[in-house]
Amino acid sequence: SGASCLIDDFVRIGPKGYWLPHGFTDLAPKIYNMAVRPDDIWVTTYPKSGTTLLQELVWLVANNFDYAKAEAIPLVKRFPFIEFAMFLNSEKARTVLERDAKNKAMLKAINEVIDQVSSMQSQRYIKSHLPLSLLPPALLDTCRVMHVARDPRDVVVSYYHHNEFIQSRGYSGNFKQFWNLFIQNRLDWTPYFENVKEAWEKRNHPNMLFLFYEDILQDIPATIKRVAAFLGKTVTDEQLSRLSNHLSFDNFKKNKSVNMDALKDFVFVNKDKSFIRKGKAGGWHDYFDEEMMQQAQQWMEYNLRDTDLRFPTVK
Ligand code: A3P
Repeated sequence: SGASCLIDDFVRIGPKGYWLPHGFTDLAPKIYNMAVRPDDIWVTTYPKSGTTLLQELVWLVANNFDYAKAEAIPLVKRFPFIEFAMFLNSEKARTVLERDAKNKAMLKAINEVIDQVSSMQSQRYIKSHLPLSLLPPALLDTCRVMHVARDPRDVVVSYYHHNEFIQSRGYSGNFKQFWNLFIQNRLDWTPYFENVKEAWEKRNHPNMLFLFYEDILQDIPATIKRVAAFLGKTVTDEQLSRLSNHLSFDNFKKNKSVNMDALKDFVFVNKDKSFIRKGKAGGWHDYFDEEMMQQAQQWMEYNLRDTDLRFPTVK
């Protein structure tokens, strides 16, 4: 089968030891040294924290609610994922992908993301799961950055399902094993708390907007207003209600421009699963046994001891 990028393919990057696939090594200096522009808009997150939802929201607010364009051009093109090629940047992945024309074309496109972004016309929209320390150092003083964070217990459940949808890392095992990898910082872009805390520490920077997934779900219109204010835009009540409706879970799931259905041609993707999965806060309770709940509590207490970062309580 296509499961050829294995979980033991990794490097540890930077003083915080971020876990990333080997393929990241070549990309690291290209990304770090990228020229950033004052009108760039970046969305940075730990995976499965509500990235896609925030991207679509931001893009529509910034583009005067151009729904026709949002429908016509897939979000992955409007808002490229800068380090995407790291998964494919290995001999093993290439061997699998080069077997058929469609996958070969996708491989080529993904490998060109950084170059394309570098030559893209302004205004650029860029997605990354990298912590600020691995992004261009001038980022925050130059352009606007939005970060969305989510309760890590829901993140890990969502990530577990994501790995069943996109099997590029070849992960197999049950949820408990996956949870252990997460808290041992052995999943891509971990340590989770270090990644999120880097953005949290900058939350008062005028170019940073730090949001929580739980708050977005709780009040989409309020979130749209916050993003609009951050981007220096105003929104009418009508625009607010149309965008809220567009971003609702049910509409999102059907929306081919954002739901990643197009990835289903990709050899690593499981056609029976979907990217937009459940869209709820607090669902982790159904996945954690007593031992894991205690581990989670200790792990969170330990990592939150030196910060005032707190996740919103789910009502
Ligand atoms: P679940 O797996 O818990 O459902 P990311 O975009 O960072 O990969 O995050 C994906 C998570 O956001 C998934 O969580 C997904 O279902 C959820 N999500 C995506 N679109 C959403 C929407 N419009 N409303 C609520 N949740 C959404």
